[in-house]
Order: sequence, then structure tokens, then C-alpha cells
Amino acid sequence: MNAANPYLPFPARLVEACFDTPDKSLRTLRVAFEDPETAARFVYRPGQFAELSLAGKGESPIGIASSPTEGTHLLFTVSRVGLVTSALHALSPGDRLGVRGPLGNGYPLPDLAGKNIVIVAGGYAVTTLRSAMVWLLDPANRKKYGLITFIYGARSPELLLYPDVWRGWMGRDDVDCRVTIDNACQGWDCLVGFVPRVLKDVAPASEGSAALVCGPPAMIRFSLPVFEDLGWQPEQIFMSLENRMKCGIGICGRCNVGNRYVCKHGPVFSKAELDRLPAEY
Ligand SMILES: Cc1cc2nc3c(=O)[nH]c(=O)nc-3n(C[C@H](O)[C@H](O)[C@H](O)COP(=O)(O)OP(=O)(O)OC[C@H]3O[C@@H](n4cnc5c(N)ncnc54)[C@H](O)[C@@H]3O)c2cc1C
Ligand code: FES
Repeated sequence: MNAANPYLPFPARLVEACFDTPDKSLRTLRVAFEDPETAARFVYRPGQFAELSLAGKGESPIGIASSPTEGTHLLFTVSRVGLVTSALHALSPGDRLGVRGPLGNGYPLPDLAGKNIVIVAGGYAVTTLRSAMVWLLDPANRKKYGLITFIYGARSPELLLYPDVWRGWMGRDDVDCRVTIDNACQGWDCLVGFVPRVLKDVAPASEGSAALVCGPPAMIRFSLPVFEDLGWQPEQIFMSLENRMKCGIGICGRCNVGNRYVCKHGPVFSKAELDRLPAEY
């Protein structure tokens, strides 16, 4: 974050971008800081986010989809829903944008060393879990963790993000990678069925394990009881929230749930912590 003024974004440029889905509702942006020193100082963790800003449009919190192990470029996958995100979709390579961050706590990966990690992702909420997976599979980190299971689902194949990346994980013998779509379709060579069903089939053991879960509310609602039936405790499950935000640094009070600011104390919370908060998220 900019130490002199935490509201000031760092100047950055769009390096390249691609539309991820045929309807062009999702676009992944590769972004580079203008100043190499800023790039070197922008030290982030998987699960953190940044406020992306455009002059005259405003700013939006977007999860960082790249892993710090991938170099100094940042990846963001943006769903076009309104003013700022539409403007981010309209950027061309070389165009300028602001990046304010890194913000939030991120996934507690260092605290989970020695454990088996289960990642459960649905739809485009996979973004920061992509970051976590790439970080976990980096040779410097992989040996610190046990089994790594990645379960990812979307309605149809075109809606699955980062196919080159997860297809690469499928070829590895140190990852159990399961990718699923809701309904069968021609040419699809992976699983068919909802994410909670796949989770039930995989039945990850609770002992010595932790889970990172991010996806649409229905996926979360039906996945949590599966974990519970398998004996998982709320302290073992971590989820990332996407409350509306303004300052992103715990000052304006826009994003609070009970006495916790999602931007500062989160966006990642254990289920145990969420269970203690009012159901306002
Ligand atoms: C920590 C965090 C991480 C996020 N990561 C991503 C990401 O990786 N990719 C991505 O595409 N989006 C992400 N979002 C959501 C994103 O910030 C909003 O969609 C975006 O700010 C909307 O801005 P806009 O100006 O385009 O839309 P607006 O014009 O402000 O609103 C358009 C519509 O989007 C709805 N909306 C706005 N903000 C949110 C929100 N936070 N949650 C749900 N609905 C909202 C509004 O109700 C309205 O219906 C994240 C949000 C948070 C808090
Ligand atoms: S967005 Fe201002 S306190 Fe969280």
C-alpha cells in the first residue's frame, strides 16, 4: 500500500487481456506497474485483493488471481456488472489504470503448513484460489503441505476459467484435480455434477486438513454440510467474502459484519469466525 497516502493508487498499465467466456462477461487482465520499484514493493499473499481504479470512473475491489510466485505482473479476472468493471473491460493494452493495495488478509497458507489442503471453487470465484493453488504448487512451497485436492465446477465448459492451468494440474501426480460441469455436453472429458456432489465423492479426510472454499452461495450452502458430515470442524474451513466496499482499509465502515471489517480483517474468515458474526454477509 502507498505508505504516504493509502488512498493513492499506484500507476499501472494493462499489458494484455483476454475474454474468458464467449459472452465476454469475464475478462482476465494482466497488469504491470509503471515503476519497477513499486512492483518490487508490492508484496502480496494469495487471497488478497486490490482496488482497481480508472480516472473519472471510480474504483472496484478485485481479487488478485496471480500468485506472487509468478513474477511481478498481476492478474485480475473481472466480471462486467456495472460502471467500473465495464470500463475495465474496455481497456486496451498500454492503457493506464490505478492499483491500490495489496488489501485484506489473504488465505492463512503459512499457518496451514503440514496439512492436507482441499480447495473447493465454483464459477469465477476461483480467481484467488487460482493464486493459492499456484503458490502451493511452487517448488518452494509444495513440500511443506500434504495432499492437495482441487475441486472446481462451473455451469458449462466455457465458464471454467484458466483451463490451461488446471489441465496442467490434472497431469501432476501430487494433486488430486477434479473439474466438473453441471450438465453433460459433447466433447467434455472431465466430471459432470455439482461441486458438493464431487466433494462428497472425494470425501476428504478431516484429520490434519484445511479447506479453502469460494463460490456462489448455493455451492457454499450445499458444500458446508458435506464437510460437516465428514467430521470437519468450522476452524478448518476458510471462506472469502465479497461485501460492498469503499475505502478498503478499515476506515469508512462500509463493509463491516458485526465488529469485523471485511476489507481489513478479511476478506478471508474461518467458518468458526463467521459463525460468531451476525449473518449479514
Ligand atoms: C474482496 C472482493 C473481491 C472481489 N473480487 C472480484 C473479482 O475477482 N472479480 C470480479 O469481477 N469482481 C470481484 N468483486 C466484486 C467487484 O468488486 C464488484 O462487482 C465491482 O466493484 C462492481 O463495480 P461496478 O462499478 O462495475 O458496478 P456498480 O455499477 O457499482 O454495480 C453494478 C452491480 O453490481 C453489484 N455489486 C457491486 N459491488 C458488488 C459486490 N461487492 N458484491 C456483489 N455485487 C456487487 C451492484 O449491486 C449492482 O447490481 C470483489 C469484491 C470484493 C469485495
Ligand atoms: S471498505 Fe471501508 S471499512 Fe471496509
